[in-house]
Amino acid sequence: MRFLGIIVFIVLVVVSVGCGQNTTTKNTPDNNGTSPVSSIKNRNSRYDAGKLVYDRNCKVCHQVNRMGMAKVYPPLKNTERTNGDKDFLIDVVLNGLSGEVVVEGVKYNGVMASYRNLTDQQIADVLNYIRSDGEAADDLVTVEEVEQKR
Ligand code: HEC
Repeated sequence: MRFLGIIVFIVLVVVSVGCGQNTTTKNTPDNNGTSPVSSIKNRNSRYDAGKLVYDRNCKVCHQVNRMGMAKVYPPLKNTERTNGDKDFLIDVVLNGLSGEVVVEGVKYNGVMASYRNLTDQQIADVLNYIRSDGEAADDLVTVEEVEQKR
Protein backbone atom coordinates (compact mmCIF):
# COMPACT_ATOMS: atom_id res chain seq x y z
CA MET A 1 0.00 0.00 0.00
CA ARG A 2 2.73 2.37 1.03
CA PHE A 3 4.81 1.41 -1.99
CA LEU A 4 1.83 2.07 -4.25
CA GLY A 5 1.40 5.48 -2.62
CA ILE A 6 5.01 6.36 -3.40
CA ILE A 7 4.60 5.31 -7.05
CA VAL A 8 1.44 7.40 -7.37
CA PHE A 9 3.26 10.34 -5.78
CA ILE A 10 6.22 10.03 -8.17
CA VAL A 11 3.90 9.78 -11.16
CA LEU A 12 2.04 12.89 -10.02
CA VAL A 13 5.27 14.82 -9.53
CA VAL A 14 6.63 13.79 -12.94
CA VAL A 15 3.34 14.68 -14.60
CA SER A 16 3.05 18.05 -12.88
CA VAL A 17 6.68 18.96 -13.59
CA GLY A 18 6.30 17.70 -17.15
CA CYS A 19 3.35 20.01 -17.72
CA GLY A 20 5.41 23.10 -17.05
CA GLN A 21 9.04 22.88 -18.06
CA ASN A 22 11.13 19.83 -18.71
CA THR A 23 12.55 17.92 -15.75
CA THR A 24 16.22 18.71 -16.32
CA THR A 25 15.81 22.48 -16.06
CA LYS A 26 13.73 22.02 -12.92
CA ASN A 27 16.50 19.99 -11.30
CA THR A 28 19.38 22.29 -12.14
CA PRO A 29 18.83 24.92 -9.43
CA ASP A 30 18.70 22.16 -6.81
CA ASN A 31 21.97 20.64 -7.91
CA ASN A 32 23.68 23.98 -8.08
CA GLY A 33 22.32 24.76 -4.65
CA THR A 34 23.71 21.68 -2.91
CA SER A 35 27.37 21.65 -3.91
CA PRO A 36 28.50 25.02 -2.46
CA VAL A 37 26.64 24.29 0.76
CA SER A 38 28.32 20.92 1.23
CA SER A 39 31.78 22.34 0.51
CA ILE A 40 31.26 25.07 3.12
CA LYS A 41 30.18 22.31 5.50
CA ASN A 42 33.42 20.41 4.91
CA ARG A 43 35.53 23.48 5.44
CA ASN A 44 33.74 24.26 8.67
CA SER A 45 33.36 20.73 9.97
CA ARG A 46 35.48 21.43 13.04
CA TYR A 47 33.37 24.49 13.83
CA ASP A 48 30.17 22.51 13.20
CA ALA A 49 31.25 19.71 15.54
CA GLY A 50 31.90 22.22 18.32
CA LYS A 51 28.63 24.01 17.69
CA LEU A 52 26.78 20.72 17.97
CA VAL A 53 28.33 20.02 21.39
CA TYR A 54 27.60 23.60 22.42
CA ASP A 55 23.97 23.50 21.31
CA ARG A 56 23.35 20.25 23.16
CA ASN A 57 25.15 21.10 26.40
CA CYS A 58 25.88 24.78 26.89
CA LYS A 59 23.30 26.79 24.97
CA VAL A 60 20.62 26.44 27.64
CA CYS A 61 22.62 28.74 29.94
CA HIS A 62 25.18 30.58 27.83
CA GLN A 63 22.53 31.19 25.12
CA VAL A 64 22.53 30.48 21.41
CA ASN A 65 24.49 33.68 20.64
CA ARG A 66 27.00 32.87 23.44
CA MET A 67 26.22 36.20 25.09
CA GLY A 68 24.98 34.53 28.29
CA MET A 69 22.60 36.34 30.60
CA ALA A 70 23.89 39.33 32.56
CA LYS A 71 24.69 38.48 36.21
CA VAL A 72 23.49 34.87 35.80
CA TYR A 73 25.43 33.15 33.00
CA PRO A 74 28.63 34.73 31.73
CA PRO A 75 29.09 35.36 28.00
CA LEU A 76 31.46 33.05 26.07
CA LYS A 77 31.87 35.11 22.95
CA ASN A 78 35.10 36.96 22.37
CA THR A 79 35.71 37.57 26.09
CA GLU A 80 39.06 37.98 27.79
CA ARG A 81 38.85 34.43 29.18
CA THR A 82 37.57 32.62 26.11
CA ASN A 83 40.43 34.23 24.18
CA GLY A 84 42.86 33.49 27.01
CA ASP A 85 44.39 30.57 28.91
CA LYS A 86 43.35 27.23 27.41
CA ASP A 87 44.08 25.36 30.65
CA PHE A 88 41.52 27.45 32.50
CA LEU A 89 38.84 26.71 29.91
CA ILE A 90 39.58 22.97 29.87
CA ASP A 91 39.47 22.99 33.67
CA VAL A 92 36.04 24.69 33.76
CA VAL A 93 34.51 22.09 31.43
CA LEU A 94 36.15 19.13 33.22
CA ASN A 95 35.56 20.28 36.79
CA GLY A 96 32.86 22.94 36.67
CA LEU A 97 33.12 26.36 38.26
CA SER A 98 31.61 28.10 41.26
CA GLY A 99 32.17 31.18 43.36
CA GLU A 100 32.45 34.78 42.30
CA VAL A 101 33.91 35.55 38.89
CA VAL A 102 33.98 38.86 37.04
CA VAL A 103 33.49 38.57 33.29
CA GLU A 104 33.75 41.68 31.12
CA GLY A 105 33.16 43.83 34.21
CA VAL A 106 30.02 41.99 35.38
CA LYS A 107 29.95 39.87 38.56
CA TYR A 108 28.69 36.28 38.51
CA ASN A 109 28.32 34.06 41.50
CA GLY A 110 26.75 30.89 40.21
CA VAL A 111 27.50 27.23 39.87
CA MET A 112 28.42 25.44 36.69
CA ALA A 113 28.48 21.65 36.80
CA SER A 114 31.29 19.48 35.44
CA TYR A 115 31.00 18.26 31.87
CA ARG A 116 33.58 15.50 32.12
CA ASN A 117 31.11 13.05 30.63
CA LEU A 118 31.98 14.64 27.27
CA THR A 119 34.84 13.01 25.35
CA ASP A 120 38.23 14.75 25.03
CA GLN A 121 37.38 15.39 21.38
CA GLN A 122 34.03 16.98 22.25
CA ILE A 123 35.63 19.21 24.87
CA ALA A 124 38.34 20.34 22.43
CA ASP A 125 35.70 20.97 19.75
CA VAL A 126 33.39 22.97 21.99
CA LEU A 127 36.25 25.11 23.29
CA ASN A 128 37.51 25.77 19.77
CA TYR A 129 33.96 26.76 18.87
CA ILE A 130 33.68 29.30 21.69
CA ARG A 131 37.16 30.64 20.79
CA SER A 132 36.36 30.79 17.08
CA ASP A 133 35.74 34.53 16.74
CA GLY A 134 38.44 35.99 18.97
CA GLU A 135 42.15 36.60 18.53
CA ALA A 136 42.87 33.08 19.85
CA ALA A 137 40.88 31.36 17.10
CA ASP A 138 44.01 29.84 15.53
CA ASP A 139 45.47 28.70 18.85
CA LEU A 140 43.48 25.48 18.88
CA VAL A 141 42.73 23.39 21.95
CA THR A 142 43.93 19.86 21.16
CA VAL A 143 42.56 16.51 22.27
CA GLU A 144 45.94 15.80 23.92
CA GLU A 145 45.71 18.95 26.03
CA VAL A 146 42.31 17.89 27.33
CA GLU A 147 43.55 14.35 27.97
CA GLN A 148 46.49 15.65 30.03
CA LYS A 149 44.25 17.76 32.24
CA ARG A 150 41.62 15.07 32.80
C1 HEC B 1 23.29 25.17 33.91
C2 HEC B 1 23.91 26.33 33.31
C3 HEC B 1 25.23 26.15 32.58
C4 HEC B 1 25.53 25.28 31.56
C5 HEC B 1 24.61 24.25 30.92
C6 HEC B 1 26.90 25.55 31.18
N1 HEC B 1 27.40 26.56 31.94
FE1 HEC B 1 29.24 27.39 31.75
N2 HEC B 1 28.86 28.60 33.34
C7 HEC B 1 27.66 28.65 34.04
C8 HEC B 1 27.79 29.57 35.16
C9 HEC B 1 26.71 29.93 36.17
C10 HEC B 1 29.12 30.06 35.13
C11 HEC B 1 29.76 31.03 36.12
C12 HEC B 1 30.14 30.25 37.37
C13 HEC B 1 30.52 31.14 38.54
O1 HEC B 1 29.82 32.13 38.77
O2 HEC B 1 31.51 30.81 39.22
C14 HEC B 1 29.75 29.44 33.96
C15 HEC B 1 31.05 29.70 33.55
C16 HEC B 1 31.64 29.18 32.40
C17 HEC B 1 32.95 29.52 31.92
C18 HEC B 1 33.91 30.51 32.54
C19 HEC B 1 33.68 31.88 31.95
C20 HEC B 1 34.60 32.92 32.46
O3 HEC B 1 34.81 33.91 31.74
O4 HEC B 1 35.11 32.78 33.59
C21 HEC B 1 33.17 28.78 30.80
C22 HEC B 1 34.43 28.78 29.93
C23 HEC B 1 31.99 27.98 30.57
N3 HEC B 1 31.08 28.25 31.57
C24 HEC B 1 31.85 27.10 29.53
C25 HEC B 1 30.75 26.25 29.38
C26 HEC B 1 30.67 25.24 28.37
C27 HEC B 1 31.71 24.99 27.30
C28 HEC B 1 29.48 24.59 28.57
C29 HEC B 1 28.95 23.39 27.81
C30 HEC B 1 29.82 22.23 27.74
C31 HEC B 1 28.83 25.23 29.69
N4 HEC B 1 29.63 26.23 30.17
C32 HEC B 1 27.59 24.86 30.18
C33 HEC B 1 26.52 27.95 33.74
C34 HEC B 1 26.42 26.94 32.80
